[in-house]
Amino acid sequence: AVREVLLSSGHRMPLLGLGCWQSPAEEVSLAVEAALEAGYRHIDTAFLYLNEEAVGVGLHRWLKSSGTDRSNVFVVTKLPMNGMYAGGVEKFLKKSLAALQLSYVDLYLIHLPVGVKGQHDLDILPKTDDGHIVIDCATDLIALWKEMEQMVDAGLTKSIGVSNFSIKQIRRLCAIARIPPAVQQVELHVHFQQRKMQEFCRNNNIVITAYGPLGSPGRSTADTVPRLLDDPVVRLVADRHGVTTAQVLIRFLIQQGIITIPKSTNPQRIKTNGEVWNFSLTEVEMEALKSIDKGEAGRSFTFASFPGLDEHPEFPL
Ligand code: A2P
Repeated sequence: AVREVLLSSGHRMPLLGLGCWQSPAEEVSLAVEAALEAGYRHIDTAFLYLNEEAVGVGLHRWLKSSGTDRSNVFVVTKLPMNGMYAGGVEKFLKKSLAALQLSYVDLYLIHLPVGVKGQHDLDILPKTDDGHIVIDCATDLIALWKEMEQMVDAGLTKSIGVSNFSIKQIRRLCAIARIPPAVQQVELHVHFQQRKMQEFCRNNNIVITAYGPLGSPGRSTADTVPRLLDDPVVRLVADRHGVTTAQVLIRFLIQQGIITIPKSTNPQRIKTNGEVWNFSLTEVEMEALKSIDKGEAGRSFTFASFPGLDEHPEFPL
């Protein structure tokens, strides 16, 4: 099976990665080691996840113990909303590189399409006295993209991309880009298949990374949405292959050339989630899974934890 996709940047990116959102720093080092040991070669983190240092510890421990060269692991991190000001890209990428103990990352993404107002030199999102963040609707995405391109020139990242951007926002970047975005990372799974986004990205040579492939059952608001892992169609397909529903959800994506980053800090689940290369879904099964798309109703992430973002003219995406 093909385990990588070719990006427009000319670099190859593994279809399966370990997601690290909501992975506590004290657990994520072991999770990263377990993933690499299980054959994952792609780790997804972000400045905002507050665990880059621990991700770096796990990564370097495994590279050393296995005698593997750093170039064999694809590392992704992201520019936080408080880094979205003139000069912020280099400053925040360098902070991430220092935390990860790396001289470059493989992919640097703009985490969200809007910045925040307030003090920019903090390592956490600036908040008002009553605990809110204030969205900066004047964020200059074009200027930021030019800074992103300079990071490739400087060798601090191999590829650049975006996350949680709308089609309109990506179009705006593509119109001026010297180096077009190689990747768009968004929520995407059987219940929320993002058909329009998929088509747009396919036509523009942008690869999608699907986050929340398992429906993000660990999220605080998780019980308000239907559970993917219990979906009867997914269950039926899983039973036919003698695999877990999580494996079906992951296989469904990678079999379409969509990169995905299931999150787990449990070594056993990390291992089984990675065992998706020795079975394949039939055309009929793929069609059945495509038919359980709920469209907008299947969306889990609304960024309600960022007050004001849902009212932004381009949210939800
Ligand atoms: P844990 O870290 O304890 O394994 P998503 O990637 O869609 O955001 O989902 C991540 C959530 O799914 C985490 O809460 C994770 O918990 C859980 N999870 C990961 N793998 C599995 C699995 N194979 N079966 C059930 N839950 C899983």
